Amino acid sequence: MTPGLTAVAWDGDAVLYLDQRWLPNEARYERARSADDVAEAIASLAVRGAPCIGVFGAYGVALLRRTIADDAEFRRAAQRVRAARPTAVNLGWAVDRVLAAADPLQEARAIHDEQIAIDDAIASYGLELIRKGARVLTHCNTGPLATAGGGTALGVIIAAQRGGKKPRVFLGETRPLLQGSRLNYLELEAAGVDAVLIVDSAAAVAMREHRIDLVIVGADRIARNGDTANKVGTYALAILAAHHGIPFYVAAPRSTFDFSIAGGADIPIEERSAEEVVSFRGQRVAPDGAAAYNPAFDVTPGHLITAFVTECGIVRPPYGDSISDLELRPLVLPAHR
Ligand code: MRU
Repeated sequence: MTPGLTAVAWDGDAVLYLDQRWLPNEARYERARSADDVAEAIASLAVRGAPCIGVFGAYGVALLRRTIADDAEFRRAAQRVRAARPTAVNLGWAVDRVLAAADPLQEARAIHDEQIAIDDAIASYGLELIRKGARVLTHCNTGPLATAGGGTALGVIIAAQRGGKKPRVFLGETRPLLQGSRLNYLELEAAGVDAVLIVDSAAAVAMREHRIDLVIVGADRIARNGDTANKVGTYALAILAAHHGIPFYVAAPRSTFDFSIAGGADIPIEERSAEEVVSFRGQRVAPDGAAAYNPAFDVTPGHLITAFVTECGIVRPPYGDSISDLELRPLVLPAHR
C-alpha cells in the first residue's frame, strides 16, 4: 500500500475506506455503516478499481449481516451493494461468496487476504515481461488503491522497480476522472518509479516516437475469448500498440475473468453522468448545456492482447483454450491468516 494510505479496512462496526476522490490533495477517510453508504461509496468512485470494490463490497455485506436481522431485508441490502457498479465482475463475485459463506466476516477477510497473495503472484509472474530499463505505458490506476492489495499492472511495475529494473513509466491522465494523474502517479512516485504523465491523446505520438516498449493495463471483466473491459481509452491504446508493433499486456486476477460469458458483447458497460465530462470538482470545463457521452469502460478485443498476467501465470493465445484451462486452476491462497 502507498505509505500512509489504506484503501479499505474492517473497523468493527463499520467499513473504513479512503475517499479516493480527494486524492492526491487530501487523505480523507470515511466509515460505511449501511447498504446505502457502501453502495454510494462504490457508485461515486470514492472506492474504485475492480478488485478493491470486490473487497469493499465483501466487507460491506459482512457488516450488513451483523446489522440487519431480517433475512429478506439483508438479502435486498446485499443486492443493493452488488448492483452499485455493473462492469467489474469482482463486485458480484465477492458479494456472492460472502452471501454463501457460513461466516460472512471470515469470508470477507479471506477475500482480502487472497487478493494480497494474488497480487504478489501476479507481480512475480509479470516480472519476466519487463526488461531492464523498459519504457512502459499504462492507463488508469491499477495499484494498491485499486485492489486493496499490491496492485495488478502497477504491482508488476513496482515489482520491476524493486527488482532493480528501473522501468520508465508513461501514464495517461485518464479523463474524465483522472485516475492516472491523481492516483497512479501518486503510487508510482511513492514506489520511486520514474513516471512521466501524458494526456491520453499523446499515446499515439509517444509510440510513434519509439518511447514505449510495452503497454500493461488492468481489467474489469474478461470474457472467455479474451475480450477485456477496462477503463475507457484502453481499446484505443490496444489498437495503437498493434499498429506500432508494441506488446499489449493485461494484468488481472482470475476473479476478473467471467467464465460465464463467451465474448465482450455480453459485458455490461457502465455509462456515467455527462456531468463528469463537462465539469471537474464543480468547475465547468465545457459551455453550459454541452452534451456528453460518458462510457466508463470499453472492450478491447482479445486478438489485440498479447498475453494476460494472472496469479496462475502468463496466459497466452489461443484464449479459447488457455482461458478454459485457467478456469480449472486451483485458487491462490494466502500463506497464513
Ligand atoms: O472506474 P474505475 O476507476 O473503477 O476503473 C478502474 C479500472 O478501469 C482499472 O483499470 C481496473 O479496475 C483494474 S484495477 C486493478
